[in-house]
Amino acid sequence: MRNYELWPSDRPSTEPLADGAALLRGFASRNAAALLDAVREIAAIAPFRHMITPGGYRMSVAMTNCGEAGWVSDATGYRYDSHDPETGRPWPAIPELFMALAAGAAAEAGFANFTPDACLINRYETGARLTLHQDRDEQDFTKPIVSVSLGLPAVFLFGGSRRKERPRRVRIESGDVAVWGGPARLAFHGIAPLAAGFDSLAGEYRINLTFRKAL
Ligand code: SIN
Ligand code: FE2
Repeated sequence: MRNYELWPSDRPSTEPLADGAALLRGFASRNAAALLDAVREIAAIAPFRHMITPGGYRMSVAMTNCGEAGWVSDATGYRYDSHDPETGRPWPAIPELFMALAAGAAAEAGFANFTPDACLINRYETGARLTLHQDRDEQDFTKPIVSVSLGLPAVFLFGGSRRKERPRRVRIESGDVAVWGGPARLAFHGIAPLAAGFDSLAGEYRINLTFRKAL
């Protein structure tokens, strides 16, 4: 694998979020344009779509996936699927740059040897939000979650492992990478409704890459 330059960016620093969770400020900044180009290539094969929750609601966040396993939601529930239900084709492979970035960020946060098999790609437009939830559809909770922010800034909600714990509200910007695992693996998290804006690389959107070991 090529040795990608990850850090340094213009403002590298690590902020602890909780025991087992950290925010790597600017970790992906220098690769933002390349990451967004790759997202466009993936979306040309597996288009963004608004999935339906098991409760029958249309999600405000548009989603697609790359990797061996793609996260999908429909009336029957949440699951990982090797194929895109919209096209019937396998999800595109996770690009090499994505793998290097995810593994590098995980290692930086103290989780060695992270090899994700699932990358959920979230696209937020003005007003889109993700309510507080846990990532718990994966087989193996010993692996962390690596979450890369691109495009418009957002307010990241990060709570504890019980829903009733009031979440912290953290402003996250393009290039920031959040990693949570170990004692924080089942932390409740979400995204507050996106404020309108314009980003030079992503336009009117926020794009998020969520890497997981799902299988
Ligand atoms: C997620 O929880 O799947 C995404 C979080 C984010 O968009 O930052
Ligand atoms: Fe999540």
